[in-house]
Amino acid sequence: MISSKEQHEVGDEKPKNQINLNPISRLFESRQRSIEPYVKKGQVAADLGCNTGYYTFALAQGVGPEGRVYAVDLKEDYVRALEKRADELGYRNVEFHACSASDLSFIGDELVDFVLANGLLCNMAEDRPSAVKEIKRILKPTGKAYLSLGSPPPLGFVSRAEWERILEGFIVERRGGFLQKWAVVSKKDNGKKMSVNDVETTKRHRFATLRKKFGE
Ligand SMILES: C[S@@+](CC[C@H](N)C(=O)[O-])C[C@H]1O[C@@H](n2cnc3c(N)ncnc32)[C@H](O)[C@@H]1O
Repeated sequence: MISSKEQHEVGDEKPKNQINLNPISRLFESRQRSIEPYVKKGQVAADLGCNTGYYTFALAQGVGPEGRVYAVDLKEDYVRALEKRADELGYRNVEFHACSASDLSFIGDELVDFVLANGLLCNMAEDRPSAVKEIKRILKPTGKAYLSLGSPPPLGFVSRAEWERILEGFIVERRGGFLQKWAVVSKKDNGKKMSVNDVETTKRHRFATLRKKFGE
């Protein structure tokens, strides 16, 4: 009988969602372990809205010296500070861009194996559709993106309806439920067909009434 660890190693078992935004969960997290299921050596990753780089160097280690990470954030000071730290720590496989995720023209089409957009869209005051379009453009047909909405600005830029519309533009491979707005997605034209029953979810039974009320 194959143990769950062995299944995971042969790729049969899908990894749990381990990427966090919540500062409390982060206290108990190993970033390297969180990133591990999503990247392999030699791959290309994009950390969109990298902020101060919480996951950037974990991604850089994950893809290794032969791989590459694009670290992108609108805030110039975050990006420059991160670039300086990368230099001090000797990371040569990270490319830094202080710009909007709505224009990633420095990344070629279908070049990226893993896009991390952790808490990005909910912090983008405008141009979210362009950022979503760019994520689709840069993703390889075999690539995956981790999208999440975190603690948004006062009322939040992304409504539940918009979140659902964004996800409709992808194949959703795994997703959180009513309270956890995260999803692992891939491109729609990647040849994969998935029905709603194939989607792994952390939707909880105890939220069923709430979900029904809000029509989810
Ligand atoms: C919640 S933080 C992201 C957290 C980070 N991804 C992590 O895992 O720790 C949101 C980030 O998105 C950035 N941001 C906002 N609008 C952006 C845009 N149009 N393009 C790129 N980054 C943007 C903000 O500067 C901020 O650093």
